[in-house]
Amino acid sequence: RAVSVRLCAVGDIAEGEILRVDLEDGRALAVYHLEGAFYATDDLCTHGDASLAEGEIEGCNILCPFHLGSFDIRTGEPTGAPCSVALRTYAVTVEDGEVLLAS
Ligand code: FES
Repeated sequence: RAVSVRLCAVGDIAEGEILRVDLEDGRALAVYHLEGAFYATDDLCTHGDASLAEGEIEGCNILCPFHLGSFDIRTGEPTGAPCSVALRTYAVTVEDGEVLLAS
């Protein structure tokens, strides 16, 4: 069975909010609570040096705090200029009140 990495507790992120999680291997992820489900992407915007966890959720999109480009949180696809390179997304599962990275 694959080992899952714990990201946070379900209660750590309110609906419509984002949490930055720094993993032990140095990766920084943005974890989103969107319409009852959890999603994770790289925290770093693909357009510049911005932390997406500092951005705003609008519908299913994350708006970057720097130039207000956007990505679809569920797929990582760019949805608003100047973002043009897809964001890496990660599979997330919820088990016993914990949000886990499916590895
Ligand atoms: Fe994110 Fe420019 S750094 S849109």
